[in-house]
Amino acid sequence: MAKESKKLKASGTPAYTVPGLTPEQGGEVAAILQNRLTALTDLHLTLKHVHWNVVGPNFIAVHEMLDPQVDAVREMADAVAERIATLGASPVGTPGALVAERDWDDYSIGRAGAIEHLGALDLVYAGVLTDHRAAIEATGELDPVTEDLLTNQTGQLEQYHWFVRAHLETASGDLSTAGARSEVQATRKAGERAGAKRQSA
Ligand SMILES: [Fe+2]
Repeated sequence: MAKESKKLKASGTPAYTVPGLTPEQGGEVAAILQNRLTALTDLHLTLKHVHWNVVGPNFIAVHEMLDPQVDAVREMADAVAERIATLGASPVGTPGALVAERDWDDYSIGRAGAIEHLGALDLVYAGVLTDHRAAIEATGELDPVTEDLLTNQTGQLEQYHWFVRAHLETASGDLSTAGARSEVQATRKAGERAGAKRQSA
């Protein structure tokens, strides 16, 4: 398709919404959900990128751990998009809109070891989960149905976050990525801890 400069944008106030909400309220909830749709789409693409780029001793365990997460997060994105449509608004799921709308950076790690990627994914999940909680808070009063959807997703995402963190945790309960502020930093910290463990073994 020829390149056009026009980018799809999320709609404002819908012409109709679910009974019991005003169109303005429906539009407000849909806008919050649009941000979550962007985050979930970004997350399942990122998880697949890691699935393809992970190398080293724990390759198969991490490669195979990630595919069920990709599938589940895709389902979550679908549920959020359909809730936006149910609210009378138009979900935007194009790659261009995703890049234009998101307020976080692209995943920054290419081919790397399993522990290094898991260190970076710890930060990725932490970011998505913090924002999902904020969305629960922001929609709770207006629309408990949306709140319920996001709450269930958060529980599932928190479990996946734990799957990631369990690889980074010591027997004393410390996380190797503690204090990391960027994916590159988290990758380095996770790798150093794993290297130190291998040397002392
Ligand atoms: Fe695959």
